[in-house]
Amino acid sequence: MAETFELEIFRYRPEEESEPTFQTYEVPYREDWVVLDAMNHIKDEIDGSLSYRWSCQMGVCGSCGMMVNGVPKLTCAAFLKDYHPKKIRVEPLNGFPVERDLISDMDDFMTKLQEVKPYIIRKEGEEKSLEEGEYLQSPAELAHYKQYSMCINCLLCYAACPVYAIDSSFVGPAAIALGQRYNMDSRDQGRDQRQEVIASHEGIWECTFVGECSVVCPKDVDPAAAIQRAKVSSTVDWFKEVLIPWGRRK
Ligand code: FES
Repeated sequence: MAETFELEIFRYRPEEESEPTFQTYEVPYREDWVVLDAMNHIKDEIDGSLSYRWSCQMGVCGSCGMMVNGVPKLTCAAFLKDYHPKKIRVEPLNGFPVERDLISDMDDFMTKLQEVKPYIIRKEGEEKSLEEGEYLQSPAELAHYKQYSMCINCLLCYAACPVYAIDSSFVGPAAIALGQRYNMDSRDQGRDQRQEVIASHEGIWECTFVGECSVVCPKDVDPAAAIQRAKVSSTVDWFKEVLIPWGRRK
């Protein structure tokens, strides 16, 4: 008989139940399956009511993040063989309100993402027209921030962050790393505008540098490093303001 494997999955259907429950499913065990394959098998063959997000199945879209045995993971990159023969418990990402089953409400993150202005800002009068062409950048200038541009907004870093778990006003790892990505971009001149959010109490100064955000990041973005770099540059700003107020950020 073919080997099977158990998945214990968080269920919450607000129209039917006031509290979440766990439901256990038995799926075929295949070495080449990831957790998402097993969930798709459940959805297609056992229980079509199971709700979760996914899209690319190749670690690019960032939509399949869930807690797998208590650890934030992309379920399209979490192989069953790494857990076998123990069963797997799948839950929604920590720290976000649950809408249904494994689907979390991401509105808080989307708001914070907008607040850090994740796009190139030019000073008034220094913008180029379309006819003047693009803003050029050397390979070395690209390499300076490229690591921070690899984020896929999967939110594993928020689910791993102990600060965000107790205080959701924290701007959080991915949003700050993305703001820092633009601050470090040679074409950008919008750092002062982002500082209002990034250098606020709810921004970089709330981070206690536990570093779990970087541990769980599936793209090696290292948001913890981005936050610490922003702390250093904001501290330099502060010294300039106190010691040489006329030379601030020059
Ligand atoms: Fe797209 Fe997993 S399904 S990252």
